[in-house]
Amino acid sequence: MRLASDKWGQLTDNFDITGSVKHQDSADNVEIAWPVIIGNLPDSGEVIDFGCGTGGFCHYLHELGFSVAGIDNSPGMLDVARKLFPQIRFYRSWDKSGCGDGTLDAVTCVMSLQFVQDVEDVLSRISKILKNGGRLIVATFNPDFISEGLKQGNFFSQENEGLYSFGDLKIPTYGRSEKEYIRMARERGLTHVRTYYPPFTQEFIEKYSPKYPTNVPEFMIMVFDKA
Ligand SMILES: C[S@@+](CC[C@H](N)C(=O)[O-])C[C@H]1O[C@@H](n2cnc3c(N)ncnc32)[C@H](O)[C@@H]1O
Repeated sequence: MRLASDKWGQLTDNFDITGSVKHQDSADNVEIAWPVIIGNLPDSGEVIDFGCGTGGFCHYLHELGFSVAGIDNSPGMLDVARKLFPQIRFYRSWDKSGCGDGTLDAVTCVMSLQFVQDVEDVLSRISKILKNGGRLIVATFNPDFISEGLKQGNFFSQENEGLYSFGDLKIPTYGRSEKEYIRMARERGLTHVRTYYPPFTQEFIEKYSPKYPTNVPEFMIMVFDKA
């Protein structure tokens, strides 16, 4: 069932990566962000993917041998994820996941935190649920990509707290700097390890002809460890 209030639930086709041709809104995540994230995860263990959408990244982690669950607050996204990947656990919230504090080896957030207004609350939750030595990986918008999108007038409508466009659908978006993330994480016992800004490749640009800016890196991928 599609609820009008569930904007993400109207975008499930954009984020379903199981078809033979990927949508350009998810191809960037898969081809540019995923390799960096995978390269920074432990070899195995318990992982939660926060803002998992239709579950493609959870499935990939599952195939790699991780014990994985997905959390997403969009009923539409979760419906699709559960249908596509019935072997994986998907939840609407942290509470429903039943994960105890200090139990997870890693949490991943693939292009989700920029859509969360109360991100400090989510970071507090993540810090609690990670084991000591556990890892958080956040892939989010590079602030320069937002500035470029505003300049080109094709993607964002306002700096920092703006709106991100998927066609006619506008989603509130909260652009934050690397410095801000590092501060918020540090205040919750999460130490910054490194940050990546992987560029678009010529091959990607030719393959997908993206409607978003490709002259600056889209992703800012930050790695944190719980002390
Ligand atoms: C751009 S999509 C990315 C989906 C997926 N991570 C991927 O890479 O295909 C953003 C996702 O974040 C989810 N999301 C946004 N705000 C959320 C919140 N407060 N709690 C949980 N999920 C949220 C949306 O429902 C949506 O599925």
